[in-house]
Amino acid sequence: MTQGPPFKKHIQDIRPYEPGKPIKELQREYGIRNVIKLASNENPLGPSGKAVRAMRRALRDVNLYPEGSCYYLLTRLAQELAIDPGHLIFGNGSDEIIELVGRGFLSEGDEVLSSEKTFLVYPILTQVCGARYREVPMTKDRRYDLPAILAAITPRTKIIFIANPNNPTGTYVTAAEVEDFLAKVPENVVVCFDEAYVDFVDANDFPKTLAAVTDGRKNVIVLRTFSKAYGLAGIRIGYGVASREMITYLHKVRQPFNVNSLAQAAATAALDDTFFRWRTKWLVVRGRKFFYRKLAQMGLEYLPSQANFILVNMKTDGQEVYQYLLRQGMIVRPMGAYDLPEWLRITIGRRSQNVQVIRLLKAYFSKKTA
Ligand SMILES: Cc1ncc(COP(=O)(O)O)c(C=O)c1O
Repeated sequence: MTQGPPFKKHIQDIRPYEPGKPIKELQREYGIRNVIKLASNENPLGPSGKAVRAMRRALRDVNLYPEGSCYYLLTRLAQELAIDPGHLIFGNGSDEIIELVGRGFLSEGDEVLSSEKTFLVYPILTQVCGARYREVPMTKDRRYDLPAILAAITPRTKIIFIANPNNPTGTYVTAAEVEDFLAKVPENVVVCFDEAYVDFVDANDFPKTLAAVTDGRKNVIVLRTFSKAYGLAGIRIGYGVASREMITYLHKVRQPFNVNSLAQAAATAALDDTFFRWRTKWLVVRGRKFFYRKLAQMGLEYLPSQANFILVNMKTDGQEVYQYLLRQGMIVRPMGAYDLPEWLRITIGRRSQNVQVIRLLKAYFSKKTA
């Protein structure tokens, strides 16, 4: 009798993460040269110029292993955030820190809590660890329902993931809501605030979660990334901020050289590129307003966003609109995987790109009604 490898059922059952369609793939498939990608919440300005120059300099040393401690980046970021370096850990994207948290704290039979319609890496990671993922319904205005999450905690709950602002809705939980939540959540549950989009927030009541860490909360970890506002998604670097105990613990889970030397150089330099960061935020804040105005004129429902994307209800098969846009060389993100089949998530692009996506949507709807 032949026996195959010992595949684990809980891993075989995973529904793989579907990334946004790459530009080159669309160019190959449709023979279109000018493709616009507003599908993966990347920075439409490209990478920070300072980061690119730093990577060029760092290229000469790629025969050497990177510094496992990320020393220069660690020192620079600690200064930027005005915290002790002992509170920081870096990862190959903040995705890796999500994974470290899962591998560090989950065993088979444990539970992870989060919201419905949130970042799809959380359930995947949970399943990889053999734990059970439970999603709590959102509020009516499609925000994380923190009181409902509190009520769903059981003795098996080990981690709660809170994407704030949330992907794909762009909505957020407020400082008052988080304060109330942290006052009630048991201290033996790890609370992971995933703030990948924090650099685009302009709401005054957005929570200051780093203060929870520096004030001594031992069960809180805050995740951030260089992928979005710093334009470094392709080089893969993100970080976590937590108590010294939690950081020491997570270091034991990571690989010794988990952050490559180009990423370290790029991120260190990008922190100095304040003009680039300012331009990026300005572009996103203005872009969001542009979309609000145009979508309202078109009678399309959208969710007000604190992130660099906007979720729009097409009130028809979203997949069909997605395919139409693809044929015109525009990649956005269909939302079937989030059980939002009528919605599309559109990354805020440069002004001309935003104008183009609105123009194409208008063309689609006018053809449909013709
Ligand atoms: C909510 C959320 N968390 C984390 C990430 C991962 O970011 P990174 O590129 O740092 O791995 C993303 C990326 O889209 C995200 O949307």
